[in-house]
Amino acid sequence: MQLPRLTPQQLEQFDRDGYLLFPSLFTPAEIAPLLDEVPRLYAQQRPENVLEKSGVVRTNFAAHLYSKPFATLARHPRMLTPVMQLYGEKLYMHQFKINGKMAFDGDVWQWHQDYGTWVNDDHMPEPRAMNVAIFLDEVNEFNGPLMFIPGSHKLGVLQAQHDLTTTSYPLWTINHDTISQLVARGGIVAPKGPPGSMIMFHSCLVHASTSNLSPWNRVAVYLSLCAVSNHIRRFKRPEYIAHRDFTPLECLPDDCLLKDYDVPLPWKDGTPAAALTSASSAWVA
Ligand code: SIN
Ligand code: MN
Repeated sequence: MQLPRLTPQQLEQFDRDGYLLFPSLFTPAEIAPLLDEVPRLYAQQRPENVLEKSGVVRTNFAAHLYSKPFATLARHPRMLTPVMQLYGEKLYMHQFKINGKMAFDGDVWQWHQDYGTWVNDDHMPEPRAMNVAIFLDEVNEFNGPLMFIPGSHKLGVLQAQHDLTTTSYPLWTINHDTISQLVARGGIVAPKGPPGSMIMFHSCLVHASTSNLSPWNRVAVYLSLCAVSNHIRRFKRPEYIAHRDFTPLECLPDDCLLKDYDVPLPWKDGTPAAALTSASSAWVA
């Protein structure tokens, strides 16, 4: 099958705004096995489940290593191909999470850039890792859609403070004065869409989301796909948060979410002990 390529207009839009929205890229039949799997993953007693202060799951890490539907999604050609086109090389999974943003209880994600963390904590050389969000539920104006400041990716890494208290998950966040200035220039957008929609966004794009006071979950998968040559140089964070396996992801056929294909599930019997610890002494290259 001929894979769709990003058009010159899409490339120009990505360069200008720092993100692209692909509404309904995956069909309801393709999303169903992923959404069905989420309660089972969230119910597991695994360190990869990070809870909100309220006790519901905020995010689940690394499901592509122990859940067949998500291991399949991680190799989907509709997601990998445009990112490979942009970087001109193969990709490995730097981070994989399923964010719940559960009805009534889903908490905020403060204003931040992802690459700030990746360069400071993980020593990733360049911002050549793409964030991809795939909606498993509808995202609407009420259930805490992701907000972007278009064009903010052009400013490189902005100064950030480590916020250890606002939510259950520590985050390097950008102060309100800076956000006010950036928004005065670029405004705020919140791309929305049905389940199966996908967003690709630059790892320097400033983003956030509000809490979810609606009765609708906003489950979305966030994949961070790094160009293989740009792999992280420091293993400070646990491996289930910042991966150390730089094996290129190979695309499965386009119907992979509808048919049965073999995928590796190396952590299906549990997380290896070495993947749970910080290993600041383990340096590479
Ligand atoms: C993120 O920035 O990694 C997640 C934001 C969200 O789920 O709204
Ligand atoms: Mn983020």
